[in-house]
Amino acid sequence: MKTTALTLIIILSISCQSNPQETVIKNKNMKTAIVYASNHGTTEKVANLIREKLDSSTVEIFNLKKKPILDLSNYENIIIGGSIHAGSIQSEVKKFIKEHTVSLMEKRIALYLCCMNEPQEKEEFNANYPELLRNHSVYNAIVGGEYIFEKMNFIEKFLVRKISGVSVNTSKLRPIEIENLVNAISNEEDN
Ligand SMILES: Cc1cc2nc3c(=O)[nH]c(=O)nc-3n(C[C@H](O)[C@H](O)[C@H](O)COP(=O)(O)O)c2cc1C
Repeated sequence: MKTTALTLIIILSISCQSNPQETVIKNKNMKTAIVYASNHGTTEKVANLIREKLDSSTVEIFNLKKKPILDLSNYENIIIGGSIHAGSIQSEVKKFIKEHTVSLMEKRIALYLCCMNEPQEKEEFNANYPELLRNHSVYNAIVGGEYIFEKMNFIEKFLVRKISGVSVNTSKLRPIEIENLVNAISNEEDN
């Protein structure tokens, strides 16, 4: 009887120890969240490029337009991406930042922006990402952008042609900026 009780206690204590270890391993595997909004797919493309360059088993991607259920406590690194349309980043990105500012300040974060108006890009970045986050971010990347006409509606096509003078598909992504962001987040991970 005594032996059975002792065996039970040993089994119980081993199983109690193994659960917290499993939780830690699970959390380790979910280290980086890439949170983005995209109108025509370019910011999404950049999110996927970042995931490929990081260890993809530790990265999860969340499209804010799909209203994901996202628990930031599972992640140590948060990368936020959006794009500029008529001077503004997506409202979903603004809302996400507003709702999570306090927890974002406790994480390692990096910010990226897709846009095509080169002379205005710095102002656009500063106007759309709050100063608090920009200063806290390990890397602020302006990654360029794309015009993809078949994804634009009639008004968008008209505006892009009129304002930029461009009327064919154009890609001006900046791989070096994507690389810099990935390196900054990876270096932080090594610390
Ligand atoms: C209708 C429209 C308006 C745009 N307005 C701006 C703008 O005000 N400033 C800018 O820098 N880029 C502007 N862009 C360029 C976008 O930021 C660029 O196309 C970007 O790659 C879009 O990314 P997304 O497909 O992830 O939304 C505009 C593009 C479109 C189609």
